[in-house]
Amino acid sequence: MRTTRERAPRRTARQTTTIAIPVALAAAALLGCSSSDSAAPDAAVLRPGVIDSSQVYQGTPSEHERAFWASILDASDARRATAVQQLIADAQTDPTNGYTQFLIGVSFFMPPRAAVEALANGTAPPPFSPSPDAAPFLDQGLMHLTDPLYMGFDGMLLTGFLFAVNDPRAPAIATAALQHNPAAMSFGAIVGALSGGDGAAGLEHMFAFLDFCAGAPVARDGTDAGQLVAKMNTGALQHRECFSGSYSPHGSSGHLQLAGDLQAINGHPEAARRYYEAVKQTSDYATWPLASITERRLAVGATAPVVEEVAAIASTCGTCHTKALR
Ligand code: HEC
Repeated sequence: MRTTRERAPRRTARQTTTIAIPVALAAAALLGCSSSDSAAPDAAVLRPGVIDSSQVYQGTPSEHERAFWASILDASDARRATAVQQLIADAQTDPTNGYTQFLIGVSFFMPPRAAVEALANGTAPPPFSPSPDAAPFLDQGLMHLTDPLYMGFDGMLLTGFLFAVNDPRAPAIATAALQHNPAAMSFGAIVGALSGGDGAAGLEHMFAFLDFCAGAPVARDGTDAGQLVAKMNTGALQHRECFSGSYSPHGSSGHLQLAGDLQAINGHPEAARRYYEAVKQTSDYATWPLASITERRLAVGATAPVVEEVAAIASTCGTCHTKALR
């Protein structure tokens, strides 16, 4: 039955030298045959990252991939750190699992729980920037993923590092990422524009994102924000990056809040208000960690946010990926 361990012993010399830390874990995976040992690959089970998951999540995540996502939903920094260590060991045992490699790379982009809490409290989050240590994992992920959603996402995150060191592969990887996952590229561009203080470019990229999600150009003045949120709530949009799902319980609220804030910093308070009202209509609003922000924006006499705050909302993954702050 467990023909499934065959991958583990096939190690190259290079992996053997870099495997120092997780030797014990790898050995346990090779020897252990208990059913709880689900971190090891099982050829009979479809892994995530293999077939197109842009509309519906595909495959069965490993025990440690599940633990990783559970820690993110719960905004538990400690459990996430543990899960990442386990994923690193898994990636050494089975260096062909692109989804595991992708998730390790992605983890370097995730600010701690304190960032979400600070935003909710209206204070500045602690400074954070993604470590280039992510790059080798993203690089490996890109070699093994065949699901365009993750290929595009992975390539989008990787190109930032590649351009920074003038890696000649950067333009081709960026072009491929855009083809594979336009939503991820637009989202990355929103974050990039906001981090550079360019609110106008941020709004343009947000429209590109919303147009892609709606499958047609959305109204530039937000007059169809109510229609958009209705589609988000009923899952009527095609691409799962566009609305709340099991891994992003507040994707809908987060995207609409950002659309509102981008309108606001570009001097369109009426359009902004339409998006903020739409945030309040999302089916996940009751537990949205940043609901206090939406309420502040809608309060009488509220002023437009500063671009730094909007940049932090966009780049704090917990904005959309935290289940609830308790
Ligand atoms: C504005 C909302 C929003 C923000 C902010 C956000 N995401 Fe997401 N993300 C989503 C949505 C929506 C999905 C689709 C998830 C689903 O199907 O449940 C998603 C999916 C993902 C996935 C793929 C999940 C899977 O395994 O299939 C990863 C990885 C991810 N996000 C990482 C991040 C990281 C890293 C950040 C921060 C740098 C981030 N996200 C910030 C909305 C957001």
